[in-house]
Amino acid sequence: MKRVKIIGTGSYVPEKVLTNFDIEKIVDTSDEWIRTRTGMSERHIASDRDKASDLAIKAANRALKDSGIAPDEIDLILVATATPDMFFPSTACFVQSSIGAGRSASFDISAACSGYIYALSVAENYIKSDKYNTVLLIASEVFSKYIDWGDRNTCVLFGDGAAATILRGFKGSRMDGIISTHIYSDGRYANLLYLRGGGSSCPPTHESINHKLHFLKMKGNSLFKIAIKNMSEVAREALSSNGYKISDVDILIPHQANKRIIDAVAENLKIPQEKIFINIEKYGNTSAATIPLALDEALKEGRIKKGDLILMVAFGGGLTWGSALIRW
Ligand code: ACO
Repeated sequence: MKRVKIIGTGSYVPEKVLTNFDIEKIVDTSDEWIRTRTGMSERHIASDRDKASDLAIKAANRALKDSGIAPDEIDLILVATATPDMFFPSTACFVQSSIGAGRSASFDISAACSGYIYALSVAENYIKSDKYNTVLLIASEVFSKYIDWGDRNTCVLFGDGAAATILRGFKGSRMDGIISTHIYSDGRYANLLYLRGGGSSCPPTHESINHKLHFLKMKGNSLFKIAIKNMSEVAREALSSNGYKISDVDILIPHQANKRIIDAVAENLKIPQEKIFINIEKYGNTSAATIPLALDEALKEGRIKKGDLILMVAFGGGLTWGSALIRW
């Protein structure tokens, strides 16, 4: 059986930093509330000109450099994003032409904050089926453009960023690479997190703009409990279906939506804090990009060694959630 390995990573966040103290000047909130309720201190914000593809291209070029492969070796480009450049062409097509990836297939994946794990699963299965062998997967989000900067319930939570992963198939006796991916959804809860304006259920009109329907809407409190339950369950399933215990995990990389969600998942799983990679304080919730951004940072900081068992768990709008278990 062919196995799938990550051969390069790279990430990019915009230069502009927005601190909790900066947000105090925009809405009725405080650094203390944001830090204690979410674990966030600052986030990066794209410039007016920057599109999802601009961030994605920078992250992709860094991952290409890290992997040492040439762009024309890429067979497939996947961009996980809920904030694409436009409805079509896909953001992946803009990346493809910019990096010079020959005639690779390119498409976007929409699974909100679970987009990276969904795309990892798609890439894994394309490679295992022998259809493609080298996949560039990028998660890129510019949620700052879809946030109501007058709504303190949401504007404090999100940051912009992109992170890329290059995957390649290999055969042989080595047991490293992706062990499993599991992805799920439950559309009954679509009303807990959505962005309706501009879609075919709500084409843009003066009225839709006046009603702020082109901004993200979230019932954070209801999502909170489901996120903890689903992330804990999917983490346990990733381990049990492969014959591992929680004590076998060297590093847990969870979706970074709220530090309190991560702490509750850790408590459920009985995994020590030092095995969890958390960078939410610097970036906020970058949606699909949180997990690959954390992976890239953990690698660059030397937190991941050869042979380590990495567990990733995601949760997002849809609802969607999933896991990936990887032997480094
Ligand atoms: N500053 C000060 N007060 C605030 C702020 C703020 N920024 N935001 C909300 N409050 C107030 C509320 O108005 C409320 O006041 P009230 O009691 O007078 O009505 C109070 O704080 C408590 O509000 P809650 O919504 O209950 O606060 P909670 O502790 O649940 O935290 C949060 C809110 C951070 C959104 C949390 O619920 C959360 O993280 N939810 C999960 C988010 C998530 O996982 N999303 C999915 C992934 S994202 C994706 O897929 C794109």
